[in-house]
Amino acid sequence: MISVLNRILVVEDETNLRNNLVFIFQKEGLQVSAAEDGYTAKEMILSNEYEIILLDIKLPGLSGLELLELKSRIKYECKFVVMTAYGSIESAVEAIKLGAEEYITKPFRNDYMIRAIKRLLHIRKLESENINFKTEIKKQYELEKSIIGSSAAMQKVFDQVRMITELDTNVMVSGESGTGKELIAKAIHSYSNRFSKPFIPVNCAAIPKDLFESEFFGHVKGSFTGADIDKNGYFLDANGGTLFLDEISEMPMQMQAKLLRVLQENKVRRVGDSKQHSFDTRILSSSNKDLKVMIGEGTFREDLYYRIKVVEIKLPPLREREGDLTLLIDFFVNKYNRLFNRNIKKVSEEAMILLRSHSWPGNIRELEHTIQSAIALCRSDELRKEDFIGLDQQDDGVKVIIPSHRTNLKELLQQTKATVEKEMIRRALGNSRGNQVQAAKELGMSHRNLLYKLKDYGIKSKDDKYD
Ligand SMILES: Nc1ncnc2c1ncn2[C@@H]1O[C@H](COP(=O)(O)OP(=O)(O)OP(=O)(O)O)[C@@H](O)[C@H]1O
Ligand SMILES: [Mg+2]
Repeated sequence: MISVLNRILVVEDETNLRNNLVFIFQKEGLQVSAAEDGYTAKEMILSNEYEIILLDIKLPGLSGLELLELKSRIKYECKFVVMTAYGSIESAVEAIKLGAEEYITKPFRNDYMIRAIKRLLHIRKLESENINFKTEIKKQYELEKSIIGSSAAMQKVFDQVRMITELDTNVMVSGESGTGKELIAKAIHSYSNRFSKPFIPVNCAAIPKDLFESEFFGHVKGSFTGADIDKNGYFLDANGGTLFLDEISEMPMQMQAKLLRVLQENKVRRVGDSKQHSFDTRILSSSNKDLKVMIGEGTFREDLYYRIKVVEIKLPPLREREGDLTLLIDFFVNKYNRLFNRNIKKVSEEAMILLRSHSWPGNIRELEHTIQSAIALCRSDELRKEDFIGLDQQDDGVKVIIPSHRTNLKELLQQTKATVEKEMIRRALGNSRGNQVQAAKELGMSHRNLLYKLKDYGIKSKDDKYD
């Protein structure tokens, strides 16, 4: 959050006038600094930040106009005001051209000067609020542009991510495999105040047991065979930023104890080093195993668990993200169209039925790979059922999805019955190439009954594809 302080720099060589300005601004509660020549002022402008810089034009050393040229060099937002002696209007015009906000002619009345400065501070504040507002909007917009999810379950996740952007706590991102844990961890880092510092993802399952300590905490040259150079390790590398401990459940017990101590002390000692080094690293972690169960089994430390799981964000499995499947399919079709230089325009209705009936145990990652290989196989501009070979073979059944929230059994049975009937009727009509009598026979129902169902479910049997 950018907040507006009221810092003003007064640059005036005439002592009485300078002291007067400092006095009246201090009385108004502003934070006042002062300089009496151009060079001192230049140094102050470049090494500090001010909301307002009030400049005399005639100064020893650098002139006010030369100082104004710094405006394009400084990284902070600041309003410049120049003071000119009565009658030197040309230099005032020149100052405005160089980007001064206002000029005030000398001599001036104190109340006039205060009003002018306060007005500018007010404008600065409004502008800054506007910037903050825009960054807020941008955050929301970007989050939902790169992470797809309009389902209620994902909207809840986005709300949580936004809420914790301002908090600097450790966060546990949990969820089944392929649900987007790393993507969310990255987003948490990108929207935090640590965004300009490193985000280091570490897969704990991929580190050999005896290398854990030096990988995490670093080592000094010569501390063991193979330690050819000084190395900082993940904690110090991520200093100021975020360390993402992926699959933390895979960390050996002995290492868990060391990790806990380091997190408690906020200090690490590199292998072979005599000194400890402080660090300021935020820990995000993820696990697709149930750590609570592991605690029960004695394979995960409970005290470490509470330290890394100050806040938990649970990612829903794809099968519980009502409505997201279609959006994600669209997203990945676009992505791989771009990457493979293809132009797939649509996914056939039959292929969509297949995709919808799959239960996606590998979640988004499985969906992404499925779309990717279908696009690679597809010869036309439409993805058809035949393009999803693997999926078709492994999963020809209709899955019953029992929502994780509480639900009424009767309603669920009714919905399930309708899903099964619709799917079976579609398939029978497909097999009979649209012949209703034959389809009814396959389904073991009367033709009349089938006609009712077709009407009820809005299924067209004389669809082009069956003829
Ligand atoms: N909501 C989403 N929108 C777009 N892409 C997504 C979304 N969620 C995940 N992905 C993509 O799916 C893939 C898997 O995501 P990610 O690696 O974050 O999952 P994970 O939960 O860390 O998986 P694992 O448990 O296997 O480590 C990535 O390519 C990621 O970009
Ligand atoms: Mg992952």
